[in-house]
Amino acid sequence: MAGLREFLSKLDMLGMLAKIDRRVSTRFEIPALIKKLDPRPVIFTNIDGHEEFRLAANMAADRGLVAKSLNIGEEELLDKLIHAIENPSKGEIVKDAPCQEIIIHDPDLRRLPFLVFGERDGGPYLTAGIVIAYDPEYGFNASYHRLMLIGRNRLVARILPRHLNKYIERGNRDVAITIGNHPAFMLASAVSWKLGVSELDIANTLKPMKYTWTVTNNLLVPADCEVVLEGRVTDEWADEGPFIDVTGTYDIVRKQRVIEINCITMRRDPIFQQILPAGSEHRFLMGTPREAAIFKEVSKVCNVLDVRLTNGGCNWLHCAIRIRKREEGDGKRAIEAAFKAHRSLKHVVVVDEDIDISNPSEVEWALATRTQLDEDLILKPGELGSSLDPSADQVTRRTCKAGVDATIPLDRDRGKFMRARIPGEDELRLEDYIK
Ligand SMILES: Cc1cc2nc3c(=O)[nH]c(=O)nc-3n(C[C@H](O)[C@H](O)[C@H](O)COP(=O)(O)O)c2cc1C
Repeated sequence: MAGLREFLSKLDMLGMLAKIDRRVSTRFEIPALIKKLDPRPVIFTNIDGHEEFRLAANMAADRGLVAKSLNIGEEELLDKLIHAIENPSKGEIVKDAPCQEIIIHDPDLRRLPFLVFGERDGGPYLTAGIVIAYDPEYGFNASYHRLMLIGRNRLVARILPRHLNKYIERGNRDVAITIGNHPAFMLASAVSWKLGVSELDIANTLKPMKYTWTVTNNLLVPADCEVVLEGRVTDEWADEGPFIDVTGTYDIVRKQRVIEINCITMRRDPIFQQILPAGSEHRFLMGTPREAAIFKEVSKVCNVLDVRLTNGGCNWLHCAIRIRKREEGDGKRAIEAAFKAHRSLKHVVVVDEDIDISNPSEVEWALATRTQLDEDLILKPGELGSSLDPSADQVTRRTCKAGVDATIPLDRDRGKFMRARIPGEDELRLEDYIK
């Protein structure tokens, strides 16, 4: 079974889950606590004005948590995700799903614990909603869209020009928004791969899933999720934002599409879910599928060993790539492949296999000791980049990208570049010397 509850019990048993029973407010207080605890998973059991719900956060806040949810080691996660993307499979379809224990027609969304995260937020938000849509040619799509509450049954959704947008433009207006999901489904839904490869099937290869048909609009949703909002994308557009994005800065206000909700289904004793904007979970979920995409693309041009979208680069804009260099052009080819795989990428550094790219100081050390930028820098002004970078033009998305090849040139004396080691430094044990 791949439900959030199963994972919550596991975290609880391991003593990893923070439980907050004190009465807390949806306005600033819950977000501030999620941020203070980040990346520790947390459940709130007493939400002022929303007593019917509990609320979970930081469920997929880092590599370790998601690996645990899949019963694998952290170092296996990227391989496992690439395998799932390449081998999607159909989940089981069931009736009598837990997520439909309660059915509410003509609902009032203000019952749900939408959160006000920051002082300038345009309204109360749901950030862990995964929107499922269907196209007769391409099948099911699942993707995250932050949702701002603008009325009793109305939400305005931030929809970038990716798959969901395409589905809507092709006339597919029915949506189901699933909330309270297992990390396997959360990670799969963050994948942006080829049209026609369904995130529902990627999730099922990560962990066997059960799906069920929605009550009002013929869509499949995870049977074990907590809450489902069923509705339609309207022809109406409304102001969305301002809202905090993955960079930790405020995104601008834009006219976005309005979704109308006509039915809510949920479990008895439902657990709502939220993702802290710019928190570890947001960054991990955004970045990890792109690491997989970059890994696949770079592996076409050289021997790639590891890829990291780094924390300081919001797990979105900056990438470190570790390669086993065979030919002089490998570093520069890796840079171009990374830009091809992840359109929002701004800066790339390619390093040799002796550099640990999970350690920012090591990457900086390679930059300091192995580069001459008049030779090793690729500058790409006027490129199409991320809409999230406040230093770029956020409307045209024009930006200057840069890649640095920080690998050791093959025609130079390699020994000169290697970190000097003191014999015994790794083996000797301080306990044998200091009592
Ligand atoms: C936590 C989180 C929040 C996101 N918020 C949005 C959003 O508000 N709007 C949007 O268009 N994409 C958002 N994304 C990105 C898309 O969900 C993601 O790129 C998705 O995989 C696109 O799917 P697609 O390839 O099916 O279009 C978010 C991703 C994550 C992980």
